[in-house]
Amino acid sequence: MAINHIMTEDYTKYDYLFRNIIPNAIGGIRIYGKNDPYQKPQKYSEVTNLENKIWEDLFVKLELLLNQYASREYLIGLRTLPIPNDRFPEFKTVSPLIENSTGWVLVPVAGFLEEELFFEMNSKRMFPVTDIIRQSPRFKKKYEGINIQNDEGYTPEPDIFHDVQGHAPFLMNINYANFLCDMGKLGLEIIKDEKGLGQELIDHNLKRLQNFAWWTYEFGLVKNNGETDKFRRKANDIDYEIYGAGIISSYDETKNIEACAKGLSTHSKFLPFNIEEVVMTCFDYSEIQDRYYVVDSMSELYKSFNENKDLFWYLG
Ligand SMILES: [Fe+2]
Repeated sequence: MAINHIMTEDYTKYDYLFRNIIPNAIGGIRIYGKNDPYQKPQKYSEVTNLENKIWEDLFVKLELLLNQYASREYLIGLRTLPIPNDRFPEFKTVSPLIENSTGWVLVPVAGFLEEELFFEMNSKRMFPVTDIIRQSPRFKKKYEGINIQNDEGYTPEPDIFHDVQGHAPFLMNINYANFLCDMGKLGLEIIKDEKGLGQELIDHNLKRLQNFAWWTYEFGLVKNNGETDKFRRKANDIDYEIYGAGIISSYDETKNIEACAKGLSTHSKFLPFNIEEVVMTCFDYSEIQDRYYVVDSMSELYKSFNENKDLFWYLG
């Protein structure tokens, strides 16, 4: 799904509590709700040579780099799924393998979804995926007349490369899969306002969840303890492994991490993961991140989430 899955822009009363506030409007993106025709089956036979070539170029450019720096969960997941390096993946061949491992299914959708629909799907282990790819004529047609970032490195619009190359491999891991499902359930509970907090607080708590999602499964790092090297062609020579799908689907972001970790750039900081700080820290959609939060291990991340759910129930 989109790099940023959760959108809450309307209510801002409690925004003053956040740090690192950067205006980050996703102008122009089309958002689909429950009452829109949001399901859109993949027509695999209609995928063009050009679209396959865009996939291949993006995939091959990142392949070795990710083999060296992506996390264990990613490498194992990628190895076990039929995600080709030279053409679009076919959802119906990928999804049953994920379902067999963790119960998640890929659900082809038309684009960005409203939060409630997104959380509801995630709570039922349904992962929305799109089959449009950045830089393609189909992408350009969808956004005709709208100024939206559409380059190799990044696009805020959901795209198949991010959704499948970036996210799908992680869904093969049961602990990760449970974590994502729990986040969906929590998001749905907040939206349904089960505690009667009112719209301002619902939105504030959703923004906390949005920050958490951003700094973890989209842009998170985990300490490199050396154990993953047995799955790599070349040993990981930095202190971190990448588990954020937003990094994994971006060559520029991955190279930035390598450069900063090796002291060749000072663009971004590496900060120890602290859930209280993470939920209160905003982010910028469209730039290389200025910081990355590093968890000691994936189990530390899951534990921290499970033990601190009250952070997403701010009562005002
Ligand atoms: Fe994403």
